[in-house]
Amino acid sequence: AITVDPRRAGPEISDSMYGIFLEDINFAADGGLYAELVRNRSFEFGPQDHASYTPMTAWSQVARGGATGTATVVNDAERLNETNRQYLRLDLRDGGAGAGSGVRNAGFFTGVEITAGDSYDFSVWARTDQAPGTELTVALDTGNGTPLAEDLALDVRGDTWSRYTGTLTATASAADGGLTVTAAGGGTVRLDMVSLFPQDTFLGRENGLRADLAERIAELEPGFLRFPGGCLVNTGSHEAYAAPDWPRERSYQWKETVGPVEERAVNHNFWGYNQSYGLGYYEYFQFAEDVGAMPLPVVPAMVTGCGENRATDDPELLARHVQDTLDLIEFANGPADSPWGAVRAEMGHPEPFGLTHLAVGNEENLPEEYFENFRVFRAAIGAEHPEITVVGNSGPSAGGPTFERLWELNREADVAMVDEHYYMNPNWFLANNERYDSYDREGPDVFLGEYASRDNRFANALAEAAFMTGLERNADVVRLASYAPLLAHTQGTQWRPDLIWFDNDASWGSASYEVQRLFATNTGDRVVPSRATPTPGTDDDLSGAVGLATWATSAAYDDVAVTSAEGGTLLTDDFSNGADQWTPTTGAGTWAVQDGALVQADTTSTDNMLVAGDPAWTDYDLDVTATKRAG
Ligand code: AHR
Repeated sequence: AITVDPRRAGPEISDSMYGIFLEDINFAADGGLYAELVRNRSFEFGPQDHASYTPMTAWSQVARGGATGTATVVNDAERLNETNRQYLRLDLRDGGAGAGSGVRNAGFFTGVEITAGDSYDFSVWARTDQAPGTELTVALDTGNGTPLAEDLALDVRGDTWSRYTGTLTATASAADGGLTVTAAGGGTVRLDMVSLFPQDTFLGRENGLRADLAERIAELEPGFLRFPGGCLVNTGSHEAYAAPDWPRERSYQWKETVGPVEERAVNHNFWGYNQSYGLGYYEYFQFAEDVGAMPLPVVPAMVTGCGENRATDDPELLARHVQDTLDLIEFANGPADSPWGAVRAEMGHPEPFGLTHLAVGNEENLPEEYFENFRVFRAAIGAEHPEITVVGNSGPSAGGPTFERLWELNREADVAMVDEHYYMNPNWFLANNERYDSYDREGPDVFLGEYASRDNRFANALAEAAFMTGLERNADVVRLASYAPLLAHTQGTQWRPDLIWFDNDASWGSASYEVQRLFATNTGDRVVPSRATPTPGTDDDLSGAVGLATWATSAAYDDVAVTSAEGGTLLTDDFSNGADQWTPTTGAGTWAVQDGALVQADTTSTDNMLVAGDPAWTDYDLDVTATKRAG
């Protein structure tokens, strides 16, 4: 039974309490939420990122009508721009009907999912050395060449890079679809940023998000959006990127993820595949706004966790990351005529995004080193943006020396909010419902940035739900909570369990998703103190029929409550002040009428009590519940 006491006011629950953590793990962004269907669209892949990668990853050369041209990825001064350094050069040798040399992209995993009747937006950056121009033929087809749409013809003119666009409408469906681009004639045509998006993106946005996934996330009504990681942000911060002739950092740099997509870098992703940054900081902020979530970015503290425990020893690098963080705040909130606010405005959002919270660090393992850097970040942010809440970190686990030391440091420094992470078995979640009951109300608030019980079964969801009642009961200290990870492609999973699963065609929520949705879409204004009591029929079920129920309270039970379906809560006693609330006034010297119920204590001890329904209520069933005391 659940006993609810509406007369006592519990803590307020913030509307933003239940949110999401979106990290590009399990192909969550590229190959997932980011709706781009072409993999390696800018030919930047290579062994510097992954042993299996080449500049032609996901591409194959094709020839129509016996054409003999060549397709080569090159990195030379004719490149599209300085961040997008490689491009495809087609050296053509064949004109005539039906001839054409080019490439086919097979998309992610099983192929490009094509649905009959749907329209797809194609775009490419191209240039040709042929004065009359070069005609590109763009096709959607299956692996064995069956057409899936009427071909699109695009006339490339001029030997400077320009963007060409067109739409293809599918006439048939296929799971193993692909995008084929060929050209006929002679000379050289250069291609880069070969792109295909479903026209039907989330809210119809250009460079947008896969609608079914974004809608599934939106249905959670997330209060906040933590992004972009996770281990994604705080690893590789010290290493140079090994790309030929372009040394730079391997870590996630927010500035590389904004501006025109064709100027965004392609980078190694901590989770073992490449990220295009097509879903970058602007898109994260936009998505947060679209789903009504508070944006909560995480920046690297330059002390890496996630298996690489190392603090930067380069003060200049640290200083640059601190400045990058200040610039990020300007990008989010600055006026449209400020340097970074102008970048945001140019991208289509002159109004500020309303950033209020920002986390420094993720799963930090080196408390002293981390905190030294954290203080530098916080001081710089506080000096320029005192309105921003800077979130600290408590390491990768629910307890232990690192956790304890980090909390100590956070408390000493009066940090406003601390990020906790834990992935545990369901029994742990059941046993730790009261974890936050004893947290210091004067200390930092808790941001439970990542948690999940280790599996995707119903029992896990149930354990999480039980645990979440404990989070909510402590909503005065646990301010934000997000399950993790959010998304997983069934064919590209690095981490499980996950909240939402998908393949190229469909998506579905786990049982945990339903729990998150239940809590997030039914958030109350404040906690109403309540108690759940043991399963009916067990020894702890004290329910009695009309007229009589007895129990020994002092030895074994706390928090006694008498309820009835008809009368609601009739009385409760948490025994915090002994038997005071049960003062007997009637009957054989021991009866009391309290909240409409008759209460009797025996004459020798207030520990043994008798509860009976008022005679006038003889049709009422009384539920008598209590919590068994430990021991
Ligand atoms: O959520 C998956 C990973 O778990 C995150 O990247 C990391 O912070 C944690 O270890």
